[in-house]
Amino acid sequence: MALLSFLSAKGSPGATTAALLTAALWPRDVLVLDADPAGGDVASRLPAADGGILDAERGLLPLLTSARRGLQPQQLLAEAQRAAGGTAVVCGLTRPQQAGAAAGSWPALAGAAAQLGAAGTDVVVDAGRVTTEPVHLPLLRESDVLVLVVRDDVTSVLHARRCLPWLATSLRRADGLQPRTGVLVVGDARRGDGDEAAELLRGTGREVEDFGRLPLDPAGARVFDGARTARPERTALVRAGRGVVATLAGAVAGEHRRAS
Ligand SMILES: Nc1ncnc2c1ncn2[C@@H]1O[C@H](COP(=O)(O)OP(=O)(O)OP(=O)(O)O)[C@@H](O)[C@H]1O
Ligand SMILES: [Mg+2]
Repeated sequence: MALLSFLSAKGSPGATTAALLTAALWPRDVLVLDADPAGGDVASRLPAADGGILDAERGLLPLLTSARRGLQPQQLLAEAQRAAGGTAVVCGLTRPQQAGAAAGSWPALAGAAAQLGAAGTDVVVDAGRVTTEPVHLPLLRESDVLVLVVRDDVTSVLHARRCLPWLATSLRRADGLQPRTGVLVVGDARRGDGDEAAELLRGTGREVEDFGRLPLDPAGARVFDGARTARPERTALVRAGRGVVATLAGAVAGEHRRAS
């Protein structure tokens, strides 16, 4: 039904963690596409479902290579591996140079990912840090929902504020639609700075939505860093993740994209 992309403006606020958390809790069939142009993290973070390691050579690079001849949505499924916890993942690039070398292939990849989303397998994209004119712009533009992950500190909020107007103007598609865009604030749940951060970001005058909060929870985050955890569902991160996922699933079920 949908393509959701997680990204950050600067720093490492927890975009990969939030993407993996969302996929783990997603209510429908889902595929994680590790599309961070700086190089993927998922293959080194998550063990394979059989207890071995994920094959880092499989995944995005072979897809981008074949995309020169066009790409079918089923090819994404064929390139996916099952990670511990059951999530299907397409591993990312092993070197950042690969993203630019395959620059012409991103539109075909974006089209195939969007078709897969429309065909019933939702796609959660780890889009990494977004700089101006990123090579994977087509994938961002095809997304139904963009989740900008932000920490609740001044620096992170400032960088996100600079990024949001760019997202609003650069992701308009030929049909006049653009992704629904919102912020997901990661921070110390007790301080309440997350609400202030979300308010500041929504006040950029754009249609920026509030997709919720995730607490700072190192034990919960380690679940998505490959650590074995006895009861992951009891961590504060996973418990808060359920609310965020309900919000995102609601966004996907409503109007996917907004007219600009
Ligand atoms: N909610 C959280 N609470 C505590 N630690 C977290 C949380 N989210 C992420 N982390 C930790 O912060 C570090 C960075 O997280 P992550 O890799 O998800 O960030 P990122 O935004 O994807 O970074 P990068 O820009 O490097 O891709 C990791 O060590 C992760 O375990
Ligand atoms: Mg990341």
